Amino acid sequence: MTENTIFHELESGLSTHSAEDTMALGERLARALPENCALALYGDLGVGKTTLVKGIAKGMGVEQTVTSPTFNLFSIYQGRRQFLHLDAYRLKPTQSIESLMIDDFLEPPYCLLIEWPDHVPALIDSDTVKLKLSIVHPNPSGDNSGEPAEHRIQRI
Ligand SMILES: Nc1ncnc2c1ncn2[C@@H]1O[C@H](COP(=O)(O)OP(=O)(O)O)[C@@H](O)[C@H]1O
Ligand SMILES: [Mg+2]
Repeated sequence: MTENTIFHELESGLSTHSAEDTMALGERLARALPENCALALYGDLGVGKTTLVKGIAKGMGVEQTVTSPTFNLFSIYQGRRQFLHLDAYRLKPTQSIESLMIDDFLEPPYCLLIEWPDHVPALIDSDTVKLKLSIVHPNPSGDNSGEPAEHRIQRI
């Protein structure tokens, strides 16, 4: 299997059944990403965006623990390449993305991971790899048998 197989699989969507599964998928994805890349992770709170970022970071050799950036909106890690994790959730409507000076930190080779990409349209272009995450509940109408929800990741 070539490394790019994962992109084909993501076109039709992949399911994971635990946070560990999602991290393992992120590690696999990290190996298939181009040298400089930006990934936009769409989806509501709790769908697994940060979990996927942790897996991608691991796959890129980041040894520090990746946590959600808070005060600065983004964090920088060093692995086999520069790794930037932006969580635009708390970006204020009055705050321009330019004021964060993200571009200044994109030293090649880099990988930029963006949570809440709808909040930063200026950072998204046709080269951005766009993934949509969602949760599929096993039995939405009937009784909840305790089966864990399936997390879906699809390239859009
Ligand atoms: N299949 C799965 N994939 C990702 N996270 C999962 C999965 N199953 C359960 N979880 C849990 O769901 C939560 C997802 O949180 P997080 O990754 O922070 O989401 P987001 O960044 O999208 O708000 C974590 O607590 C994680 O352990
Ligand atoms: Mg998050």
